[in-house]
Amino acid sequence: MKGIILHGGHGTRLRPLTHTGPKQLLPIANKPMSQYALEDLKTAGVTEIGIIIGDVFPEKVKEYYGTGENFGVKITYIYQDAPKGISHAIRLCKDFIGNDKFIVYLGDNVLRRNLIDYTKKFQSSNSDAMILLCKVDDPQRFGIAELDQNDSGKIKKIVEKPKVPPSDLAVIGIYFLTPKIFDIIDRLKPSWRGELEITEALQMLMDDGNKIEYDTVTGWWKDTGTPEDIIHANKLVLDSIGTENQFLIDSDAEIKDNVVVGTGTIIDNDSCIIGPVIIGKNCIIGPGVQLGPYVSVGDNSNLKCCTIQDSIIMRDCNVNAKVDFDSSIISHGSEIMASDIPKKCQLLLGERSQINL
Ligand code: G1P
Repeated sequence: MKGIILHGGHGTRLRPLTHTGPKQLLPIANKPMSQYALEDLKTAGVTEIGIIIGDVFPEKVKEYYGTGENFGVKITYIYQDAPKGISHAIRLCKDFIGNDKFIVYLGDNVLRRNLIDYTKKFQSSNSDAMILLCKVDDPQRFGIAELDQNDSGKIKKIVEKPKVPPSDLAVIGIYFLTPKIFDIIDRLKPSWRGELEITEALQMLMDDGNKIEYDTVTGWWKDTGTPEDIIHANKLVLDSIGTENQFLIDSDAEIKDNVVVGTGTIIDNDSCIIGPVIIGKNCIIGPGVQLGPYVSVGDNSNLKCCTIQDSIIMRDCNVNAKVDFDSSIISHGSEIMASDIPKKCQLLLGERSQINL
């Protein structure tokens, strides 16, 4: 079986964070979110992986993942010239896939449970596709599946972002497919949002009399379209600290009471850290810092005098001011320092920055 990770798209709802890189490289618990997809595929025994890169800094994706050797997989990069939809991206992989069954993993989806059982199930089944369903509160945001009322093992209909949802079962962004899908995609027309939709391809596959099975997701699943989603995903992932170490990127990191501390990091005695928290390598935390719960701090960041919770501070950041953050995302290399002019803020903000004072 082969794997495909979708790493394109413009991530408009995540600007300004996506002005300088693809959204799938944004870190959750100090690891690019697409790395969770890659590791899930690898754990399920899928090591031949195609990564679809788009036009938002694709070189950063290649620089991070390289040939895949450092991650124990073999990566082929496939270029998508514009965000024309999931089905469009899949169609670009026809030669890469050949006659194999394959898994498509949206690089902005994060799943709690690994794919081992689902992969085994699909490998041994005679279905032409398998989808994973998860109950959601906001079904208008997703592809939605309606189950057959007479036979709950059967899917009746799959629709993309319905105004009047037939159910609350979202089709999550991990699809188990066979090469049959390629001919179907060739017959698709762009949707109202100008994309070749995966949900339409799946519906057509069913309409043609092919078998699609489903499984339900146990544990959480997160689609990270907005800053709030990213902060929530960070929280969900950090909740596993202490019970698993699959989220660690520094093998020498120390885990204590739900706090992960990377090598070379110094934590000042008068600072208080309330887990779950992850701190990268070579950081200086303190004096006067209160961190957590649910904070990720990237490598080489220095924090002084601040209080931070439910937030992501990426690498190479410098905070030295009496500030109290909540639900914030601070991008690589940002500085937040006390102003020289008493009671005034001095700001140097990039395009589309957001500040809520
Ligand atoms: C895409 C799919 C949708 C699916 C979702 C899962 O939506 O089109 O069917 O439920 O991913 O993350 P998009 O992220 O393009 O809005």
